[in-house]
Amino acid sequence: MPNIARVAVGGGKKKSRCSPELAPLRAPAVQRWAGQGGPRLEMHCSASALSLSNRGPDTWDQPIAPATVSRKPPRSLPYTDLKPALWREYEEILTGSLWIFPTRYRGDGHALEYHGNFVPQIATQTLLRFTRPGDVVLDLFLGAGTTAVEAVRLGRRCVGIELRADLVEHVRQKLAHAADQVALITEDATSPALIAEVRSALAAWDREAAQLLILHPPYHDIIPFSHDPADLSNAGSVAAFLDRFALAAEHGIELLEPGRFAVLVIGDTYRSGEWIPLGFLCMERLRALGLRLKSICVKNIEGNEIGKGRATPLWRYRALAGGFYLFKHEYVMIFQKKDVRRRGLERGSQ
Ligand SMILES: C[S@@+](CC[C@H](N)C(=O)[O-])C[C@H]1O[C@@H](n2cnc3c(N)ncnc32)[C@H](O)[C@@H]1O
Repeated sequence: MPNIARVAVGGGKKKSRCSPELAPLRAPAVQRWAGQGGPRLEMHCSASALSLSNRGPDTWDQPIAPATVSRKPPRSLPYTDLKPALWREYEEILTGSLWIFPTRYRGDGHALEYHGNFVPQIATQTLLRFTRPGDVVLDLFLGAGTTAVEAVRLGRRCVGIELRADLVEHVRQKLAHAADQVALITEDATSPALIAEVRSALAAWDREAAQLLILHPPYHDIIPFSHDPADLSNAGSVAAFLDRFALAAEHGIELLEPGRFAVLVIGDTYRSGEWIPLGFLCMERLRALGLRLKSICVKNIEGNEIGKGRATPLWRYRALAGGFYLFKHEYVMIFQKKDVRRRGLERGSQ
């Protein structure tokens, strides 16, 4: 069903249909995209948002003109089904850089079953903003599969890479009902073999590249994930960690479609009483690899830790005694792969 507003002019009853994509955030139990025969979700919303068409990103911080009724279909973007002109209807979609999630979303296959998995809301927000139904999300550090679970839930597909075979098997079983939407590969994300393995998974879906890249590496050695020397959490130094992270990221970028987005979820660390800005160091590596930085979002850290973690009185004591602050935030950084083909076309038309 198309997103068409039916507006009775002259104070009559206004009724519109809009944005079924938002249903997962409003009613998380209901999902699946309608494009492949799944149930079509219908929501009713005010028609006023439809009047604010053709406001480009550079005008978003300017005062909004009084609403007028426009019959133009809202402008769409190549990488998402969200339509900027319908912004009023997307209350649950974050557009600010401060991400506060009071609780971890549980349900629909999500649980805090793995120390170090991110809250599902990160995947929900970024998948809705930067992918369309049917698109492929590549996660190079799959862990317990939060991205894959959310991709399935939102009607996307996921190629997940994870070093630990036990975790890959765990995710495979968890998503057995959606085996055609996920490709899970036990592999070292820094291995040169990765590119061919992912390309062959993509080819099975008639795709040559992924439409979104998710990078949620270990925050160096904060949590030891395994004894495998290839595990980034076992890198001997911050410099070694950054080199291995950049190697994996380079693979991910090569596998990402030009013009599409990459998401880095990362926190900082302390080393001998000194704050190491791991997030910014990784960010610089991605910029050096040619990604364009779009946003640095700061997210509260509640809901990541099993048990009380660093909220205990002992840690408060240590912070006071040591002259430092306890980590209460991590970063969700958004990047875009430059589209040189597009730039070439634009130059050619000048
Ligand atoms: C922070 S966790 C990711 C958690 C995941 N986002 C989730 O929500 O479940 C990082 C993961 O990277 C994996 N890992 C570490 N080094 C790796 C490597 N070289 N290649 C692939 N995976 C690796 C670890 O085993 C761990 O599961």
